[in-house]
Amino acid sequence: MPKRHLITCALPYANGPIHIGHIAGCFLPSDIHHRYLKMKGLDVLFVCGTDEHGVPITLNAKKENKSPQQVVNENHAIIAKSLSKFGIQFDRFSRTTNQLHHETAQDFFKTLHENNVFKKITSEQFYDQEAKQFLADRYIIGTCPNCSYENAYGDQCEQCGRTSNPKELLNPKSVLTGNKPVLKETTNWYLPLDSIQEEFLDDWVNNQKDRWKSNVYGQCKSWLNDGLKPRAMTRDLDWGVNVPIQNANNKVMYVWFDAPIGYITATKEVAGDQWTKWWKDSETEITHFLGKDNIVFHTIIFPAMLHAHGGFNLPTNVPANEFLNLEGNKISTSRNHAIWLHEYLKEFPDKTDELRYVINSILPETKDADFTWKDYQAKVNNELVAILGNFVNRVIILTHKYFNGKIPDGNLDSLPDFSAKITAALDQFNQRQGLEAFMEIARYGNKYLQDTAPWKLIKDDDNQQNVADCILTCLHVVHQIGLFGQIFLPDTSHKILKNLNLKSYEDKIAIGHNIGESKLLFEKVEDDVIERQIIKLNQKTPINTFSQEQNNQPLKPMIQYDDFVKLDIRVATITAAEKVKKTDRLLHITLDIGTETREVVSGIAEHFAPEDIIGKQVTYLANLAPRTLKGIESNGMILMAENVDGSLRFVSPDEQTKPGSIIS
Ligand code: 2FM
Ligand code: ZN
Repeated sequence: MPKRHLITCALPYANGPIHIGHIAGCFLPSDIHHRYLKMKGLDVLFVCGTDEHGVPITLNAKKENKSPQQVVNENHAIIAKSLSKFGIQFDRFSRTTNQLHHETAQDFFKTLHENNVFKKITSEQFYDQEAKQFLADRYIIGTCPNCSYENAYGDQCEQCGRTSNPKELLNPKSVLTGNKPVLKETTNWYLPLDSIQEEFLDDWVNNQKDRWKSNVYGQCKSWLNDGLKPRAMTRDLDWGVNVPIQNANNKVMYVWFDAPIGYITATKEVAGDQWTKWWKDSETEITHFLGKDNIVFHTIIFPAMLHAHGGFNLPTNVPANEFLNLEGNKISTSRNHAIWLHEYLKEFPDKTDELRYVINSILPETKDADFTWKDYQAKVNNELVAILGNFVNRVIILTHKYFNGKIPDGNLDSLPDFSAKITAALDQFNQRQGLEAFMEIARYGNKYLQDTAPWKLIKDDDNQQNVADCILTCLHVVHQIGLFGQIFLPDTSHKILKNLNLKSYEDKIAIGHNIGESKLLFEKVEDDVIERQIIKLNQKTPINTFSQEQNNQPLKPMIQYDDFVKLDIRVATITAAEKVKKTDRLLHITLDIGTETREVVSGIAEHFAPEDIIGKQVTYLANLAPRTLKGIESNGMILMAENVDGSLRFVSPDEQTKPGSIIS
């Protein structure tokens, strides 16, 4: 049994907020594992932070007319706040732009340099003569040799997915100036993965076969089977950690060199001088949580770096997950096909456990999984509300009803060992199965209560003791739900503690103790809430951070004139508007469409005050099938233009026009 456990969660890039794909990939799994080990009483350290270097951040900064530092500051704040609100309990959430990180990465690099690990290789790279800069792959666009898409990136074509070398692009152009780049020689420092493979990686990876998940081991082996090649660890860029050796002016470290060192930095920030016990002591186990696109970096490149440096422990396990899709499609940040964590937390306040539960139940542990809003609704309503919440609530109410809220003096019926199945699953990183085993506690409780039926027993004087036994037993089951809920549903676990009027789960169910009031744990999710989310997804409006990409979105597929004429688009005048009660986003709007009035519910309340839009002429899609939102039937849709900054505009005729006029 190792003495200590260091858990790391892949550092998210600080070039945008995080979405449910990131949560399913590593944030939730690492948090569950951390909570599990803590509950076992082990010595655990859990670190993460934002990955703040790399080319996409510099491109985002250019687009938004900000400095890269500004971009990462803003995104770090959003990410850190949303993860903390979501209950991810890092001991340290660091940043790779921290001074200590730069120093740590530079020390690491220097040691490799002094150990003569790197190979210096000179090669020809694209260079922008006007910007006086070598161009990273993402700084070059051109025509894809495969599908002729004109805006393919140097490393990948977004249209056909082909990964390529920038030198293969036809008509390459610099993103910085639009000029044709020239080829120019540059020297970089390479990690000789080919020789490290031979000397170390092949054997080391082979030894992990029985321990690592098969998807991780398989991917790693396939890289090794193809044969590794030296990989440049330096870049000609001005955003990153400066390379701390002579003749390396204007070079920074490759982002994937410094990023995993971020785990070491975060450990130093929280443990001070004691950091080495987490990285160098043989009694510490390191577990890296990440998504499948990061496997190669954590099973090959980072271990190769650690090995070449010497003195560091290597990871014991790398339980990577596959991808989470959304409503049947890949999550895409540029198309805004995503559920953003900060938006969810705003739109669903106090519903973190609902999202944790649903994602936990579909974690892509062995293959890609799909999140749908309908499934979210079904799982919350049929499982959390109907099974877990209902059971706990009934037990608390019955304790008040039959025993004035005091834990009765009864005999405990024997209960299954709930912990055995949970532990067996979580030890193997089977967190979906772990959740199922947890829910079995609530299912067991419900069945036991239903079968024992104290509401029948209470009618018979001879059965009073049986009622006490039943309620006492049920209270024990509630205690177990709360106890293991600390791993899976932390907010709910906390609420159960309050229901039971206990300070911690170390407090036992003691006869005579007064429990707390019953407070509902979960609320039913109504249809309109889900519909609104589905509509929002279908609108695919880019969020602010990526708003500039809006203009880059590919045009929709061609339609025929016959398709167009099906749309009944008219001029309408807003005659009344009011906020829909208990919502932030919705306005209830009445429109004059010439021949009649129409009622529409529109999600624009955060952009316009009702009194300011009365009298406005708008473009109205009159023949969209009706939908009911918050109990109001919405007929048709007001069309809006979204500006790049995310603000909305009505699309109005340039002169007063008779309501009902056809737009064609
Ligand atoms: O893929 C990503 O989002 C990377 N920023 C992960 C880095 S993990 C680690 F090495 F820091
Ligand atoms: Zn292509």
